[in-house]
Amino acid sequence: MTEVIFKTPEGDEKVSLNPGERLLKGAYTLEMDVRYGFGDCGGNCVCCTCHVYVEEGGEGFEAPTAEEEDMLDTAFNLEDNSRLACQLKVSPDAEKIIVRLPES
Ligand code: FES
Repeated sequence: MTEVIFKTPEGDEKVSLNPGERLLKGAYTLEMDVRYGFGDCGGNCVCCTCHVYVEEGGEGFEAPTAEEEDMLDTAFNLEDNSRLACQLKVSPDAEKIIVRLPES
């Protein structure tokens, strides 16, 4: 299991995920969809509401696909470490992953 920490406006929130599981699943477990409208399209890479900044532990993530990059181009406050949580799978050797939600 890998510890995944989401830095949210309400503070740090933790969840454990298995290798291969997507960060979006962790966000749903924490009910971020209800509280922040996070992951609105259900992981189909068409909404950008799962935009996060990867702050730690992102070495094992696959590079973004062209589809993800196109979607990220529509995100507010895009940064170098911007990714879509629905496209990020936990790698087997990841011990801890930290992502931050955008301010708005
Ligand atoms: S959940 Fe919609 S793009 Fe990730």
